[in-house]
Amino acid sequence: MADFLSLAPLAFILCLVLILSSIAAAAAGTTELATQICRNTSNYAFCQEAMYSDPRAVGADRYLLAYIAYRQAYLNATDTADYIASELKSKSMESGGASGSLRKCLGYYEEAIRRLAEMLGNLDSETFYGLDELSIDVENSVRGCQASVGNPPSPLSKRNDDLIKLSNICLVVSKLYIYL
Ligand SMILES: *[C@@H]1O[C@H](CO)[C@@H](O)[C@H](O)[C@H]1NC(C)=O
Ligand SMILES: *[C@@H]1O[C@H](CO)[C@@H](O)[C@H](O)[C@H]1NC(C)=O
Repeated sequence: MADFLSLAPLAFILCLVLILSSIAAAAAGTTELATQICRNTSNYAFCQEAMYSDPRAVGADRYLLAYIAYRQAYLNATDTADYIASELKSKSMESGGASGSLRKCLGYYEEAIRRLAEMLGNLDSETFYGLDELSIDVENSVRGCQASVGNPPSPLSKRNDDLIKLSNICLVVSKLYIYL
């Protein structure tokens, strides 16, 4: 009896440790992969909003999340390329530097779109090699556009900024494939 009583506190502590560690494991396990990914991006709130704007992100695995991220970036990029093309059209009456830098920008965007299409194609064919480098290429293209139009705040810089953040999400998702 005396022996049992002296062991009781130890048993209690042991139980407590087991219970607490299982709670911690459960909490870690229930952090969605999309949220884990967003924690590794340059802008957590932006990433959460972008990823969860697609209802399939809930409970998704890395394959589906890569698809969601690349597709969002692709749609964003094509929309902005259309925007630049229409700006070019409306400026075609004028002459000078502004339309030259927009034309350059369009070239950068066409490059970004080709890369994003390649990334989506690679996912389809389960070719996971080099997705991280392609994501960086996309970001660099957008930065190229931003550099050619200069710094003044404009609808285009806002769009560039969005696509830079989206390509950062693509990079973080792509890195999940690096060790395959
Ligand atoms: C987040 O980054 C850490 C440190 O680089 C890495 O170990 C982890 O796998 C990453 N997780 C996700 C979901 O990107
Ligand atoms: C680009 O993506 C961001 C984030 O999802 C969104 O807020 C923005 O409206 C999108 N822009 C276009 C032009 O699709």
